[in-house]
Amino acid sequence: MRVVIQENYANMCKWAANYIAAKINGHRESRPFVLGLPTGSSPIGVYQELVRMNKAGEVSFANVVTFNMDEYLGLPREHDQSYWYFMHDNLFNHLVDMKPENINILNGMAEDPEAECARYEAKIASYGGIDLFMGGIGVDGHLAFNEPFTSLTSRTGVRALTTDTRIVNSRFFGNDPEKVPAYALSVGIGTVTDSREVLVLINGHNKARALAATVQGGVSQQWTCSALQLHPAAIIACDEAACGELTVDAYKYFLDIEKEERL
Ligand code: GLP
Repeated sequence: MRVVIQENYANMCKWAANYIAAKINGHRESRPFVLGLPTGSSPIGVYQELVRMNKAGEVSFANVVTFNMDEYLGLPREHDQSYWYFMHDNLFNHLVDMKPENINILNGMAEDPEAECARYEAKIASYGGIDLFMGGIGVDGHLAFNEPFTSLTSRTGVRALTTDTRIVNSRFFGNDPEKVPAYALSVGIGTVTDSREVLVLINGHNKARALAATVQGGVSQQWTCSALQLHPAAIIACDEAACGELTVDAYKYFLDIEKEERL
């Protein structure tokens, strides 16, 4: 696993956006480049940088198909806290050549949510899988909405949100955890780790415990993000603030091994 430590959030976002753009630009196959995407505050700076690069002609999304990680159950697209709304507001509406038909987001209003999840998995498979899945994590280490104790081999399905996550996410729902939907549709840990590459953003002091668990703890369903240790090509992009719980030797090791600034 690579851990790319950047000085601050802005640099982490630039690094991640450059990495994604390089992968899209380097894609030589006739099939589209398949990109997995998260929501949350962590990726916002990455999206801003990708939009800037796209407008400047540095990266095209014309041959990119996207799959989002998750969506709240019971929120319509138009709801300003739906992940559909978030993705259009923060990324898709600003890209000059993203094709709407290439955007995939789980439908939180599906009549049969389980069938919707099965359809999503099948659609990912129909593209030959995901080339690069970018993710973020919760303070409890959840990846997408795979809360602690979700199977590390899980596939896309309906997930119950923990009280902790509803409290953390209540900042977007008038600070009332009861207003945060209790369930979500989410890709599974297995869905993410099946991707050819995984890039996870971890920034801020409040993610320090989760970063240490992801990188230095054992592989455990208690920290679902730790499943990345078993992936052959996982990268964590983080900022200094998130490194507070790493051991000094691990912190120095990652700085040392990355110092040649390879992409
Ligand atoms: C939500 C999302 C996750 C996201 C997490 C962290 O719970 N379901 O996919 O990674 O929040 O969000 P933030 O980046 O705002 O800390």
